[in-house]
Amino acid sequence: MAISSSLFFRFPVVFLVVFSHAVVSQQILTLSSDEQESVYQVLEAINSDIQWRYLFPDDLCSSAPHGVVCDYFTDESEVLLPGFLANLSSSLEELVFIENPSLAGTLNGKLGNFTRLKKLVLTGSNVSGEIPDSIGDMLELEQITITRSNLSGGVPLDIGKLKKLKILDLSYNRFQGQLPDSIGNLTELLKLDLGSNYIDGRIPETLLGLQKLEFLDLSYNLFGNFGIPLSLAEMPSLRELYLSGNSLGGQIPEIWEKLGGILRLGFSGLGLVGKIPASMGVFLTNISYLGLDNNKLEGTVPMEFGLLESVNEINLENNRLSGRLPISAKFSAQLEGKLKLGGNPNFCVDASFSSATSNSGLEHLKLCSKTAISHHVLFSGCSSLRSSYLLSFLGYCFVFVF
Ligand SMILES: *[C@@H]1O[C@H](CO)[C@@H](O)[C@H](O)[C@H]1NC(C)=O
Ligand SMILES: *[C@@H]1O[C@H](CO)[C@@H](O)[C@H](O)[C@H]1NC(C)=O
Ligand SMILES: *[C@@H]1O[C@H](CO)[C@@H](O)[C@H](O)[C@H]1NC(C)=O
Ligand SMILES: *[C@@H]1O[C@H](CO)[C@@H](O)[C@H](O)[C@H]1NC(C)=O
Ligand SMILES: *[C@@H]1O[C@H](CO)[C@@H](O)[C@H](O)[C@H]1NC(C)=O
Ligand SMILES: *[C@@H]1O[C@H](CO)[C@@H](O)[C@H](O)[C@H]1NC(C)=O
Repeated sequence: MAISSSLFFRFPVVFLVVFSHAVVSQQILTLSSDEQESVYQVLEAINSDIQWRYLFPDDLCSSAPHGVVCDYFTDESEVLLPGFLANLSSSLEELVFIENPSLAGTLNGKLGNFTRLKKLVLTGSNVSGEIPDSIGDMLELEQITITRSNLSGGVPLDIGKLKKLKILDLSYNRFQGQLPDSIGNLTELLKLDLGSNYIDGRIPETLLGLQKLEFLDLSYNLFGNFGIPLSLAEMPSLRELYLSGNSLGGQIPEIWEKLGGILRLGFSGLGLVGKIPASMGVFLTNISYLGLDNNKLEGTVPMEFGLLESVNEINLENNRLSGRLPISAKFSAQLEGKLKLGGNPNFCVDASFSSATSNSGLEHLKLCSKTAISHHVLFSGCSSLRSSYLLSFLGYCFVFVF
């Protein structure tokens, strides 16, 4: 029997609880289309090899796959995490609650015995309280996604024991306190999302241990004024990195040499000072989104930014940048208005540039005086030279327009 059939044949190994919060009349027990869609998505997340939509086209409560249990509650009632879960604890492998705003209660005392659980998903609920320390005993866990709920307290120290964990997403809760160093023990982790909580202190240098990590989001917390962690330089698997909305301060460090895989980078509102390093333009060759807005960055935009061929959006708004925009009007047109430069009083664009990009949102920038030396770079194919990071080399592929 293929593992992919587990949902059918090993119930209650996989157990999916769907709470509808819709007000339903007593007889007609149906899911709204949103809810139906959510359940499909959960089922597909559990096993994408099965054609759930094809096999179960009808209402998923009236004719559901084995393992899906529907329960109905009105908007007014508050629903507690069901006690019957405890009776399943020894065999359950996946526990998934999605979008149940009326679901309340705590996780305390309910989790510890789920020793076989691989996947714990709880999103869009009103479950509150702390994550119990006993989570450290659930050694089979590969995914913890507890988001948009009302959890508080610290990220448990013992979470570092979960050697198989690949996804840890605790975003949009009320977690607080410091992030434990033991987080760096999660060597299999691919995604770490702690965004939009109240976590403070220092971003642990032990993150360095997360050598497989592709997605790191620590944005909109209360991390303090310790600068951007230098350990990021040695995390070459990173694809998405978001630190926005923490008062980290300091300059943008020279950490980019091994981070060429980064596709999206959010460094907005970090209190960054100093210049934008040219190395960002040189090494972040595949970057699609770059947000450096709402900092205190000064100086010019490095001409190496003209090399960022894959970029779809650059936001440099509300800094103290000056000088000219070092990319061509053609390149800017490619950005289709997602080149944001407002709120930099000393920044200017060439007349040719602003007329060529009438729809770019750059119209409000002041025009450079003709006497200023231009850094205007014509975009041309020089990708093969990027890795050398020799400015004299790069000079070959820049055409300066005076
Ligand atoms: C758990 O199982 C025991 C024994 O089968 C049963 O007596 C009890 O009612 C169950 N508890 C819940 C909450 O379902
Ligand atoms: C957890 O397991 C312990 C020991 O096996 C048992 O005493 C306890 O009742 C269990 N708790 C739950 C909630 O099932
Ligand atoms: C969430 O639960 C708390 C009690 O824990 C309650 O006071 C609050 O009204 C609930 N919020 C919603 C939106 O149901
Ligand atoms: C979260 O829990 C607190 C305290 O239990 C409660 O006052 C608050 O309304 C809850 N928040 C939401 C969004 O339900
Ligand atoms: C986990 O991390 C802590 C703090 O970084 C460290 O002291 C400990 O040795 C680590 N444990 C294991 C099992 O790697
Ligand atoms: C950039 O993307 C290409 C195509 O996906 C990939 O082959 C290349 O390795 C990436 N560059 C870096 C530095 O990761």
